[in-house]
Formats: sequence, C-alpha cells, structure tokens
Amino acid sequence: MERIITSDIIDEDITDDNIRPQHLNEYVGQNEVKENIRIFIEAAKIRNEPLDHVLLYGPPGLGKTTLAHIIANELGTSLKTSSGPAIEKSGDLAAVLSNLEPGDVLFIDEIHRMPKFIEEILYPAMEDFELDIVIGGEGSSRSIKIDLPPFTLVGATTRAGDISAPLRDRFGIINKLNYYSEEELVGIINRTSKVLGMEITPKAATELARRSRKTPRIANRLFKRVRDFALVIGDGIIDEKITKEALDRLHVDKSGLDQIDIEYLTNLIQKFNGGPVGVETIAASIGEEISTCEDVIEPYLMQEGFIKRTQRGRVATDKAYEHLKISGQDTLF
Ligand SMILES: Nc1ncnc2c1ncn2[C@@H]1O[C@H](COP(=O)(O)OP(=O)(O)OP(=O)(O)O)[C@@H](O)[C@H]1O
Ligand SMILES: [Mg+2]
Repeated sequence: MERIITSDIIDEDITDDNIRPQHLNEYVGQNEVKENIRIFIEAAKIRNEPLDHVLLYGPPGLGKTTLAHIIANELGTSLKTSSGPAIEKSGDLAAVLSNLEPGDVLFIDEIHRMPKFIEEILYPAMEDFELDIVIGGEGSSRSIKIDLPPFTLVGATTRAGDISAPLRDRFGIINKLNYYSEEELVGIINRTSKVLGMEITPKAATELARRSRKTPRIANRLFKRVRDFALVIGDGIIDEKITKEALDRLHVDKSGLDQIDIEYLTNLIQKFNGGPVGVETIAASIGEEISTCEDVIEPYLMQEGFIKRTQRGRVATDKAYEHLKISGQDTLF
C-alpha cells in the first residue's frame, strides 16, 4: 500500500524540481549545517581550492539531495550524480570519476550501499585525486594511475551506521540533517505556495505543518493534495477548513500518523499488551516487511515518543495509549 505520508520518494515527487530550493538562502532550517557550509564554501573559494568532501546523513526527505545541488550551485560548478547501488563494478566508478571537470561536485546518493572493493578505489580518489585501476586480463594485468581533476564528493545516506569507518574518515565535513520544527515547515509550505501560485492561509499552513511528520517532502506532497481539494470542493484558496477536511479524508491524523501507524500502535497495544514485542512479530501482525517497520514506520513513532525500543522489543508509551483514545479508537479499550 502506498502511503501519502511516506517520506520515501514517490513518482509524483519527481516533478518537484521547481519547488526544490536552488540556493542556500532559500533552504529553510538546518541553520547550523547551513551556516557551516556557507563558511566552508566561502573559504574554498578564497583559497581557490575544491570544497572538502561532504557527508550528509539523516532520515529520508529532509533535504540531502537538495543540499548537494545547492552546494554545487553556490560553488558555481556543476553536479554529477551517481548512487551506491548504481556503482557495481570498478569500471562504473572509473567512468564517473574520469568524467569530472575541475571543481565539480560528485554526488553519490545511498553511499552506504557501495560495495567494499569499490570504496577502496574511492579512497585515493578522495585523498589524492588519483585513480588506481587494474587493466588487462589475467596474466597480463597491470595497474595504472590516472590523475583526476580536483573535485568535491558529496555523499548522502539515511544509514550513517552502515558507513565504514575508513570511508567516513575521508570526509572533512560531516553533517546530520534533523527533523524540521513546525515553524520551519510553515516556512517551506509558504515558499511552495508562492512557487506554485496557490494561496494558503497562516492557520492552514500551521495545520499542514503539524501533520507533515517534520519532513519537507511530506509537507510538499500534502500541500499538493490539499490544493486539489481546495480547487475542486473549496473556493480556490487553501484555508484551515479545507486543509482539515482533506487531511482527514487522506487519513492523516493530527500527529501526522496514517492508518498503518495506527494499525501498528493498535496491534502493539491490543495484541501484545503494549509490548515488549520483537519487530518481526509486530511486522507479521500488520502484514508489513520488517525493514518497512524499522526504516519507515518506527523512526517517526519513536521520534514522537509513541513507542520505545528496549532490549526485549518494542514498547508502547503512555502517549500511544492516549493518542489511540483521542483518535476515536476507544471502542478498543
Ligand atoms: N531545507 C529545505 N527547504 C525547503 N525545501 C526543502 C528543504 N529540504 C527539503 N526540501 C524539499 O523536500 C524535498 C525532498 O528533499 P530531498 O529530496 O533533498 O530529500 P533527501 O534527504 O535527499 O531524501 P532521500 O533520503 O529520500 O534521498 C525537496 O524536493 C525539496 O522540495
Ligand atoms: Mg535524496
């Protein structure tokens, strides 16, 4: 089942390029990260050297890819893109690297999924701008060194823990992106409203922000859906009433939880007495993959304090009990 509130990228997000900020001053929130990067970019320009390699990590939809594009824009260079899973053979990486122009930004998304032996080719490329490759077949193979232009690697990952220490150590700038505050999301929603030319009232923007799981990608997606309701059954502007109605119809509740989250919490509380219960068990009970539970459902429930992870398994918090009552699930108790 596709979730409207998934923080993963879905088809309709691909056309988001026009609402994606292009410069640092349009990038809302993440103030510490933003200010540091601004200084490092200025310094690199003054020294006339490439920016040090940058590692960005954090949950999906918080703006890693966006920030990589912005870094290239601010440096005044171009961005070349690849991803961990796309680089399978040493030749794939060699092709990407030898395509770089001096000062380019190479963006490698999902960098934690790069095979270990590819990582090892990346080390000298990152440290000395050198590519060591083996050419020729068995018996006649020899290793050659190719000089690369100076470049900046920007790596992104949702799983910082899966990055090997030697790779992590080669990044001079490591930044974690955090969930956004309600105020910041309102800023993003207002910006999207301007870009798309669709007015939203302040109260509606706050309501939308509250239900967007602290995630810009979700805020923008919900904005578009609410806009549809406003155009068809409302009066052409997004106000609080139409926002509430649309989000209720989409089953996104006041805390940004959808039916799957509610099902997760209901099962945890009803079938397993609030836990502790293993993730395998709870995943089976709601018919979802374990990885979906761990990577998609649980991080937000945990971040919002609905569940806790203990050594013996998942546990529902008082807030979860409260929330289910408020959500009209009281027949269950
Ligand atoms: N700080 C921000 N200010 C304004 N808009 C933002 C910001 N961060 C993200 N967005 C919006 O949210 C969308 C999703 O961001 P982005 O694709 O950069 O996330 P991501 O961290 O790369 O996610 P993933 O881990 O899935 O690759 C962007 O298209 C952009 O419109
Ligand atoms: Mg991305």
